[in-house]
Amino acid sequence: MTVICELADLQRLYHRRVPRMFQGYCESGSWTQQTLALNRTDFQRILFRQRVARDLEPRTLATTLVGQPVRMPVALAPVGLLGMQHPDGEIKAAQAAEDFGVPFTLSTMSICSIETVARHTTKPFWFQLYVQRDRDFTRKLIERARAVGCSALVLTLDLQMIGKRHADHRNGMTAPPRLTLPNLIDIARRPRWALGMLATRNRGFGNIQGCATGVEDMRDLMQWTAASFDPKLGWDDIKRYREWWDGPLIIKGIMEAEDARACVALGAEAIVVSNHGGRQLDGARSSISVLPEIAEAVGGDIEVWLDSGVRTGQDVIRARALGARGVMVGRPLVYGLGADGRAGVTRMLEILHEETELTMAFIGHRDIAEITAADIVMRD
Ligand code: GLV
Repeated sequence: MTVICELADLQRLYHRRVPRMFQGYCESGSWTQQTLALNRTDFQRILFRQRVARDLEPRTLATTLVGQPVRMPVALAPVGLLGMQHPDGEIKAAQAAEDFGVPFTLSTMSICSIETVARHTTKPFWFQLYVQRDRDFTRKLIERARAVGCSALVLTLDLQMIGKRHADHRNGMTAPPRLTLPNLIDIARRPRWALGMLATRNRGFGNIQGCATGVEDMRDLMQWTAASFDPKLGWDDIKRYREWWDGPLIIKGIMEAEDARACVALGAEAIVVSNHGGRQLDGARSSISVLPEIAEAVGGDIEVWLDSGVRTGQDVIRARALGARGVMVGRPLVYGLGADGRAGVTRMLEILHEETELTMAFIGHRDIAEITAADIVMRD
């Protein structure tokens, strides 16, 4: 039996259980993958100040994200194609998140549709929106999210064009995979995945198919994305989405202070400092390195969160110390889900919770709200 102590254990198991093309989709960054690497190495430049002789009982990580109570300041990031990483992946991840007490965000590019996930969950989840040229289609997606009771809209702004990730092109990724000889050999080595996939009907793009014509597989989806995502999107258009959605609006993909202030001006509740996990603009700075300047630029006018590179509870504390109210985790979600479905996502959340709580205690705090920049030092 595999002992799961840390996210790297889940990642190893994930690599054993899920076909290579979906691993490639999860693990790759764009072009040279410089930003993908910086997202991790820059976290490691942040060191903690160890404190002793403090009263460390009781401890809590509980807080709120956009006014919603959470057990720790971590939300599951929107990840496309989760339902290819594990059969009914979006349902399993949403169920694990609601049991644990953190938000789950359903991607526009999910396999299970908004309505399917809603049917299998009891608490509201969040919906992530990509803006399409076709305003009616975009508006319909917002209305579908509202109709099932989604409690926040996450508007992603950094993917009006899709970054080039070489692994996907080399692997000829499609969803579901084409049954070529190399794919068949690879799938035959992952019988749990294959049997699970045979047993579910959720194998296409649940939110898109049936609504956008001609989108059957990944190649169609890439073409549809290139043709449908609105490259002319401006702040005036985004204002319209703010008007259409009356719940909390979270804007994801902000890496510059001026853009952050524009989000404040249009009345968003939160921004996510994110370079899309190094999957879009290669050569961009790491999210964690730009977090302090963005937090300073907006003061307390909006919640500032971070994603891209969080792999441990220590990283959660580092992000809090530099001004993030919360973090989103994408690849850790995929590792847990691909390794062991719903139980794997729960295990991933437990590990992050334990690491975050222990780190908080070692630096002398009992409540996540007490963490400040005074708890860390930057290594040159
Ligand atoms: C979509 O969000 C992607 O990064 O592929």
